[in-house]
Amino acid sequence: MKHRLTPSQAKTAIFLLFANRFPSKMSKAGALDLASGVGGNIEKDEILSAVDKYEKYHTTFGGLDEERIANYTDVVNKYYDLVTSFYEYGWGESFHFAPRWKGESLSESIKRHEHFFALQLGLKAGQKVLDVGCGIGGPLREIARFSSTSVTGLNNNEYQIARAKVLNGVAGVEQTCNFEKADFMKMPFPDNSFDAVYAIEATCHAPDIVGCYKEIYRVLKPGQYFAADEWCMTEAFDPNNQEHQQIKAEIELGDGLPDIRSTRQCLAALKEAGFEVIWEKDLAKDSPLPWYLPIDTSQFSLKNFRVTSIGRFFTRNMIKAFEYMGIAPKGSQRVQAFLEKAAEGLFVGGKKEIFTPIYFFLARKPQ
Ligand SMILES: C[S@@+](CC[C@H](N)C(=O)[O-])C[C@H]1O[C@@H](n2cnc3c(N)ncnc32)[C@H](O)[C@@H]1O
Repeated sequence: MKHRLTPSQAKTAIFLLFANRFPSKMSKAGALDLASGVGGNIEKDEILSAVDKYEKYHTTFGGLDEERIANYTDVVNKYYDLVTSFYEYGWGESFHFAPRWKGESLSESIKRHEHFFALQLGLKAGQKVLDVGCGIGGPLREIARFSSTSVTGLNNNEYQIARAKVLNGVAGVEQTCNFEKADFMKMPFPDNSFDAVYAIEATCHAPDIVGCYKEIYRVLKPGQYFAADEWCMTEAFDPNNQEHQQIKAEIELGDGLPDIRSTRQCLAALKEAGFEVIWEKDLAKDSPLPWYLPIDTSQFSLKNFRVTSIGRFFTRNMIKAFEYMGIAPKGSQRVQAFLEKAAEGLFVGGKKEIFTPIYFFLARKPQ
């Protein structure tokens, strides 16, 4: 479906791109924050070469799976330095998808999904909780306020932690919640430290999923729960189908991933790590609205304007102009381009039901 903008719609579009606040209040980032944040902690004049290096890790650019896995810290950190301001600008403070009910906005569905995690984990006031791969802390703040718990956010990306601390101050949870910069494959916590652990669309970055779940198992108290949303290829994915493999490679390139695992592999890894699986399900299966609706370019939404096809068209041209004027660093357009490719891969993968970002499980560490 094609959309033509009237002059007043075009004015609204420009306002929405530059406004420091989304109508949904999901994002605190305006267009200038986006431009100045591209590249995160990478030196501005090194961003273009970082994009080159990042792309070359991936099969689409001739990279090898083994090399990408061996260098996962560099792949993931480069990726999040490059993309975080785009995520914050387009998606808000929580960097995940969610099942969605009819009549629910994207931001409402995201918050409800975070509350779902708190309820599944049975969180109680005062408990110590760990958020594995916490992004800039959107879920952490929502879950901490919803359940009156103290949440520690673990993240290996310095730039995201700096953003997360600022936003915790704005939300007023800086006394009860904190952050640790570390790799979730080697956590800096003693055994049996946390009353609950969750990971939302983060452990898909792990180079070895059994090793990652074992680390989570180690820091969780006995008898307590671990819940996660995993990015997975579903049973419908056919490894011998070229088109399926291409979609998988596009998602890996656009999302900083080593190798997307199947739902079956994740389930087996949980058991191998020692967990008792309480329940698991691909929540995409009975979501009344598809999780990929916000990235469906045939849809238009004023509330989520920046992720619509018109919003992306404006952002693309704005980034081009900003890069030309020196407001956005060189390489910004390349980042925007691989993110658009990622959105296409995610959309097609979701529509074909060969990929899901919301394979949910609740697991328990035995007493
Ligand atoms: C898609 S984001 C999700 C963030 C957050 N859970 C949310 O929903 O907003 C994935 C996060 O995992 C973090 N991450 C990836 N690999 C990591 C690792 N090895 N150790 C710690 N954090 C990691 C990234 O830095 C990023 O913050």
